[in-house]
Order: sequence, then C-alpha cells, then structure tokens
Amino acid sequence: MLDADEYHAALAALDWQVEMGADEALEEHPVDRFALAAAEAQARARPEPAPAAAPAPRAEADPAADAGHAAHAAQDLDGLRAAMAAFEGCELKRGARNMVFCDGAPGARVMVVGEAPGRDEDREGRPFVGRAGKLLDRMFAALGLSRSEGGLYITNVLPWRPPQNREPTAEEIAMMVPFLERHVALADPEILVVMGNISAQALLGRRGITRLRGTWGEALGRPAMPMTHPAYLLRNPAAKREAWADLLQIGARLG
Ligand code: URA
Repeated sequence: MLDADEYHAALAALDWQVEMGADEALEEHPVDRFALAAAEAQARARPEPAPAAAPAPRAEADPAADAGHAAHAAQDLDGLRAAMAAFEGCELKRGARNMVFCDGAPGARVMVVGEAPGRDEDREGRPFVGRAGKLLDRMFAALGLSRSEGGLYITNVLPWRPPQNREPTAEEIAMMVPFLERHVALADPEILVVMGNISAQALLGRRGITRLRGTWGEALGRPAMPMTHPAYLLRNPAAKREAWADLLQIGARLG
C-alpha cells in the first residue's frame, strides 16, 4: 500500500506524464524498470558461459586423395589391381560388369592408354577387344608389336564402363588419375601412346586430340605420342593416313 505522500507523488508523476503526451499504458502490469536494470547489471557482471564447442567440421570426401593413397601403397601391378578393385570412390564401378585393368605384357616398351571400356570390354574384362581394339591390334602389328607377344601393354584411364558409353566427367577422370600414374610407374614403359581425348586430358592435361596428335609430348616423365582413337578412325577413315604417320614416328623412336 502507498501512504498519502507516496500516493500524491505518484499521482503528480502520472499527471506530468499525461501532460507530456503519454496517454496510454503499454503493458497491463507495471514494470519496475529499476529492478530490471539491477538484474541486467548483475547478469552482465556474471562470467560469460563458455561457448558450446563448435561441432567438428565433417571431413569432406576426397576420392582423388583416397585414390592417391591407395595407388601409392601398391607395390606391384597385382597390388594395384587389388587396390583399384577395392576403391569405392567412383560411381562408375556400380554400373559396370567387370573392372578392366590391362592386357598385354607388363614391361613392354610401349604402353597404350585408352579412354574407358565399352560394351565388349565391360563384358570381357579386357581393354580394346571390340572393333576399335581389332583396329588397334592391326595398327601396332604393322610395327611388329602385339599384346600377345610382349610388345605392347594396354590400359585405360577408367577401368569401369560409363553407362551408355557416356563421356566420363572431369571428376571421374581426376579421381582415377592417381591409379593411372602408379600403373605407368609400375609397368615402366619406354613410350606412352595417348589414345584419344580422355587420355590426353588425363596424361597431358588438355584436350583437342586432332590438334595434339603427331607431336611428341611428355607425360609422367616419359615420351608420349598423342594419337586419334581407333574408334574415331573407324568413323573417319580419311584420318588413318595421319595415324599411320604417328605410328611411324613411334617405330622410329623405338629404333
Ligand atoms: N575404347 C577405349 O578407349 N578403351 C577400350 O578399352 C575400348 C574402347
């Protein structure tokens, strides 16, 4: 209860507020601003609670790094084949019937790096066994090199067939490059044949095989001859003439 003095003081304060234009109460119940201010001051004086530990950042999946570790751990070609078979970072694996690792003779002077398995290769689990592969065999036989007689070693950038033979994505290529690099190191050829655009992207870092072909480059520290893909030659027989010139350069280099 207010005593008479307090009552009159409160009434005078109310009159003064009304005179100043305050004509409605904003809250149904009065708010004791002095008590509020004191509580706020107390709260400010209390030590800040330690911030909740930020959740640890989720490790981003990095399939290319995983591939790099797996590839470098492989001590020989069998180990590399097993490491690739165990690699789960590439979606293409799920749709493929077989992994296509290699064909021919490890240690051959010439290693051909193609693009990706097609339908026939996916079925057989060996690279270049379809029509393009038959042409590839005839091309290298002209130099006296064959996969069955130790002259040629063959692999692809991608060991799994892309669905409907679609173009592999840049990510799919990049994540398989560490395996390819290790493959080349373990097979240790004298010369690399960069067969087609995907191979050019993986080994030379650029595309445009019809412009790159026929000029020696260097890939992974080895001489590399970019050539148009035999599948392209089947569609464009006029380009066989240039491919023949490229083969002769490889023959000359082998001596
Ligand atoms: N094309 C390729 O690049 N590789 C194969 O194995 C088959 C077709």
